[in-house]
Amino acid sequence: MSASGGEPDGGRVGYDETDGFGDEEGVNVSRAARPESAPSPFGGPRDPDTCSLVIFGVTGDLTRRKLIPALYDLGCHGVLPFGTTIVGYGRQPLGDEAFRDQLHQAIDDHYGAEKVDGPLCDRVLETPRYVQGQFDDPEGYARLATVLDELDADGSGRGNRMFYLATPPSQFPVIVEQLGAAGLARAGAFDTDHAAGEPVAGWTRLVVEKPFGRDLATAHELDTIIAGVFDERQVYRIDHYLAKETVQNLLVLRFANGIFEPVWNRRYVDFVEITAAETLGVEHRGPYYEEAGALRDMITPHLIQLFSLVAMEPPVAFGADAVRDEKLKVLRAVRPVPRDSVSDWAVRAQYVQGTVGGEQVLAYRAEERVAPDSHTETFAALKLLVDNWRWQGVPFYLRTGKRLARRVTEIAIHFKRPPVLLFRDADPGGRVQPNVLVLRVQPDEGFSLSIDSKRPGHAVALQQVAMDYSYGTTLHELPFSAYETVLVDAMEGDMTLFTRGDQAEEAWRIVGPVLEAWAAKPARDIAIYEAGGWGPEAADALMAHDGHSWRRPWKEDQP
Ligand code: BG6
Repeated sequence: MSASGGEPDGGRVGYDETDGFGDEEGVNVSRAARPESAPSPFGGPRDPDTCSLVIFGVTGDLTRRKLIPALYDLGCHGVLPFGTTIVGYGRQPLGDEAFRDQLHQAIDDHYGAEKVDGPLCDRVLETPRYVQGQFDDPEGYARLATVLDELDADGSGRGNRMFYLATPPSQFPVIVEQLGAAGLARAGAFDTDHAAGEPVAGWTRLVVEKPFGRDLATAHELDTIIAGVFDERQVYRIDHYLAKETVQNLLVLRFANGIFEPVWNRRYVDFVEITAAETLGVEHRGPYYEEAGALRDMITPHLIQLFSLVAMEPPVAFGADAVRDEKLKVLRAVRPVPRDSVSDWAVRAQYVQGTVGGEQVLAYRAEERVAPDSHTETFAALKLLVDNWRWQGVPFYLRTGKRLARRVTEIAIHFKRPPVLLFRDADPGGRVQPNVLVLRVQPDEGFSLSIDSKRPGHAVALQQVAMDYSYGTTLHELPFSAYETVLVDAMEGDMTLFTRGDQAEEAWRIVGPVLEAWAAKPARDIAIYEAGGWGPEAADALMAHDGHSWRRPWKEDQP
């Protein structure tokens, strides 16, 4: 299969209308056709290479709910190159046609069958291939190699191969080893520097989903296995938080504006909060979540990545390595959590039944495929201190939880009060508030800076006002969802938004003492919080101990 239908090389699947389906992001994701080269978040054109996209774990949740809808949507945007062929590798016996039907179904389920553009969908799903095999069966990989050779021979993938591991993490090592044994990990050409290089043909890339291990030892073990087969420049570790539009904007906000950098340090910043609150419970992911818990599921990958973007030094360039080197440096500067006082630094809790969004919801222990005496935490909070010149003494508080009062992810930078409270008398009620810069990652994407100002009138009375920017006021749509961004970036060879092995290991080092302390002391009486609230009292105490309190997230009073 080539760039079929007489389309020119490098053509894009696409169509010209906006159909306006919603997306789970706060702002709709655009379905409008895009020009051939739409702007990338880092300023360059979007130009993903055609490839054979091999997905391991094709029947799983991630493939159905995220990857396939994202590929279809890239087709709608006109970004997906013609000839991109999806190759499924799985244990289930399935023919190519039945596989194609499954993919189609995933798209229908996600967008609603009536909204899906049939001909476009057919183009996106043009002749997908399915290879049946066990993950540890060399013969399966030999069959896979034959299919990939066929695709290369007819020009479809142009020799480019992307292996996407969407399986449970326990399968990662065996798949990587088998790919190596089958000769499928050939480095071929790869971009040494995406920003400087031309797209190269004949690349092979490995895309790995989090979690990257369960702790430092297993992360290191996984990295060693991967390094035995692939070059690090072939490895794309996905953290979909980094691909969120608003997270990318954090770098722009910090480094494209002259006003923030001078105050972005211990002299002016009092403390920083990073919150990722969800209203969802564990849904159908009981077995995974039971093993993971909030610290491994959200804090170690996503929140520590957000932390590193807030705290890192300015990179010398926006190249992948320059950004990732700075992130690594600040992770290395995080003070180890003292093993003898973990409870002063970290809090865990589990939700019990309550009401979320007006609906009664079950306790975690009553969820599907969750142990009735489970100790798994569904809420975690962690305090970090950074031992470097910029941040010495400034606490960073990270918290995340399921079944909280509302879905909100935000970063709040709390600035210090002015050194002299000149207006104390004018404000006997004590409303002079420190300035807070809030970066709203989702939903209601945007940012706001709270400022004290004079209430108009004869008397000098103070009030707090917010300078606010909401993406929704100028943009009806975000250009890409996070999964679309990571897929395109991986197809382009742009590693900036992907986690490097050393960063992932460093994140495990940071949470290591907490994991160990929690494992050593199974929380028979794990703290609880009511579903629909803001977490356990212990989380408030963690902050109160330092004289701070958690911010009530933005616009909380609004429905
Ligand atoms: C995933 C976690 O990585 O991120 C889930 O495994 C969590 O438990 C999800 O719900 C949150 O992602 P988002 O993009 O909805 O904030």
